[in-house]
Amino acid sequence: MTKRIAITELVGETQALQSAPIWLFVCCDAARPMKIFETLKIDCHLGEVTRLVHSLIDTSLAAENIVIASESLGLASVFTIYHWKVLGEIAGLLHLPANVLPLLLLCIGYPAEKPPLRPRWRTEIVFHVDRYRLPAKGTILRQYNKSNTSLVRMGYFSKGVETLAQHWQRKFSTKDMILRERKLRRELKRLGFLPETL
Ligand SMILES: Cc1cc2nc3c(=O)[nH]c(=O)nc-3n(C[C@H](O)[C@H](O)[C@H](O)COP(=O)(O)O)c2cc1C
Repeated sequence: MTKRIAITELVGETQALQSAPIWLFVCCDAARPMKIFETLKIDCHLGEVTRLVHSLIDTSLAAENIVIASESLGLASVFTIYHWKVLGEIAGLLHLPANVLPLLLLCIGYPAEKPPLRPRWRTEIVFHVDRYRLPAKGTILRQYNKSNTSLVRMGYFSKGVETLAQHWQRKFSTKDMILRERKLRRELKRLGFLPETL
């Protein structure tokens, strides 16, 4: 429980975290295979970029399976990355060695709501046959307006946000992102998931 408090202090309070009895950090683990190679004295190298790609795929698949298993038990879950703003601190708190990256923080609990299906982009826009096609501006605007109207009707946005554009601008503001990326690159290099030279 004390870890939970320490994590909350680092990450901040959010409804998804505070209402979930179970938190699972789903981690990319390159430390164990590296240790196995070393123990067996075999000439294997995971490679920095290959390691990152394999790890992201493996870990996301594992997380997705955890979500499906939880749902099949009548539980609910939320994928989160709140902890990415304090990645190094979280790694320290959990005693993660180099080459272990806490990719996702899965919140698992009992469902408190049955949210409506969120708007989806039309299949013709996201599914490509034989060649990729970027949607035309008109298609994007029509789909955007439809999604926006539907999300407003669902009461999806937090206070002070009225459109999807505002929602994205809050999440991905260029100024904040530059600072966030700088810190992230540092942390990822330290954890062994980005080449030092990048
Ligand atoms: C990789 C990934 C990371 C996410 N991180 C967060 C997060 O940090 N905080 C959050 O509120 N939702 C996060 N989400 C979104 C939620 O997990 C969830 O998918 C989303 O809230 C879907 O519900 P909605 O359609 O009601 O938004 C993330 C989703 C993904 C796929």
